[in-house]
Amino acid sequence: MLSTMSSAQLGVELAFTSLNSEVEIDDLPIEGNIPRWLKGSLFRNGPAKFETGQASYNHWFDGLAMVHRYSFRDGQIAYRNRFLRTSPYTQMMSTGQLSSGFETVQPTSLGKRILKMSLEMLGQKTGQTYNTNVNVICLADQFMALTEQPVPTVFDPITLETRGAFYFDDTLFGHLSCGHPQYDDQQQEYINYVTCFGPINTYNLYRVKATSRQRSLIARIPVRSPCYMHSFAATENFIILVEFPLVVKSLPAIFGGKAPMQCLSWEPRRGTNFRVIHKHSGDQVARFQSEACFAFHHINAYEEGNEIVVDLAASDQPDLMYKSYLKPLKSATRSKDHPLAEYRRYRLPLQKPSCKAEVGYELLSEQLIEMVCINQGRCRSRDYRYAYAVSHNRNWPTLVGQLVKIDVKNCSDQAWFEPNTYPGEPLFVAAPNGTAEDDGVILSVVLDAAKERSFLLVLHAQSFKELGRAYLPHHVPLEFHGLFVEEI
Ligand SMILES: [Fe+2]
Repeated sequence: MLSTMSSAQLGVELAFTSLNSEVEIDDLPIEGNIPRWLKGSLFRNGPAKFETGQASYNHWFDGLAMVHRYSFRDGQIAYRNRFLRTSPYTQMMSTGQLSSGFETVQPTSLGKRILKMSLEMLGQKTGQTYNTNVNVICLADQFMALTEQPVPTVFDPITLETRGAFYFDDTLFGHLSCGHPQYDDQQQEYINYVTCFGPINTYNLYRVKATSRQRSLIARIPVRSPCYMHSFAATENFIILVEFPLVVKSLPAIFGGKAPMQCLSWEPRRGTNFRVIHKHSGDQVARFQSEACFAFHHINAYEEGNEIVVDLAASDQPDLMYKSYLKPLKSATRSKDHPLAEYRRYRLPLQKPSCKAEVGYELLSEQLIEMVCINQGRCRSRDYRYAYAVSHNRNWPTLVGQLVKIDVKNCSDQAWFEPNTYPGEPLFVAAPNGTAEDDGVILSVVLDAAKERSFLLVLHAQSFKELGRAYLPHHVPLEFHGLFVEEI
């Protein structure tokens, strides 16, 4: 028992410990069998460096971005990883100084801040890149890493070398973006938004064709108190912005030289506000209220009769953000040290568009969850049955300790659990010519604390049993999000 507890402590710490090595491996050693039909590359992104010689970041979200690629072919897996050579990374390497980030701020003069903002508003391409450690998308034939600053970082999908800042070919400007653009399969376009602070704050919803770098505005929504929204929802005809009462204080954000996290104010008395915007006209067609809650991630949303169904990984307050400081995370011993969210379903009745109606929610699972995925290709913006997530295990409560498959139609679940391991975000890959919704595999990068290494886990999505795994030569700190593409 003592040795088990010791391993758990070690594992928790490793999940937030820098990975400094960059490697390229043609054939990872494989245990079990990787399906031969699985062809393509999984890109993962997340924070992987948390300190220089002299100084350390305080918050998990500020770790420097590393991109990993797992390429599947004929039952074999090739692997490569590289830090993105962003401006914060090169500054840290050349000066030993930390850069400003989500929670960290380096003092700059008001004059410099105004100059930088003016250049950005005028569309000047300064070449500056940000610590884009949140997500990966492919847009306009380029692979890019995203965060909430509105300039993505382009990288080479083969070598993972950093190519620089990505600029849209338009004049839309904003201070705060969203790292979770929503893909519209019918229109083959991404929908996203940027928040612009100023005398009048606005949410600027836009669409951009998957092959284009030119955005077109869907709606400009003025708002007195802009809220922090890490993601949003889209159905066939509507975009839903869920304004949790985590308010961005825009003046300190622009002029105060403060880090984004220091500009957030939790104001639960405001409640949560659902704005429903028509995707095509840009009109706000309804608003709904609920009790205060917070969610980083939307799971899915779809239209059903006269209702919009919105599924969130939500909790009563933004605990995960405020408890994601590295020091306490590294020594976490209880599940509440790394809080997860409830699987909540909100129903928005569109037949009453004129009133700001109160809405409640139902729980779709007893599990506490995060990093949820579905069969995107088949179920995005549609009714669905299965979701896959990380969750706590009762016997291993210090950190995300297991993967779960949740059947939302009957509130049941199956788990994949192994002592001493900490899995990251699952991702569903559909089998070719699959007929069932769960016909495919689940991919997840799992930290094995006992071996002090991570492995790529492949689960059979229907049975939720392991098919195979491939160990890396190093550990991988807990990551955020990723992308699977068949072409590379
Ligand atoms: Fe996210």
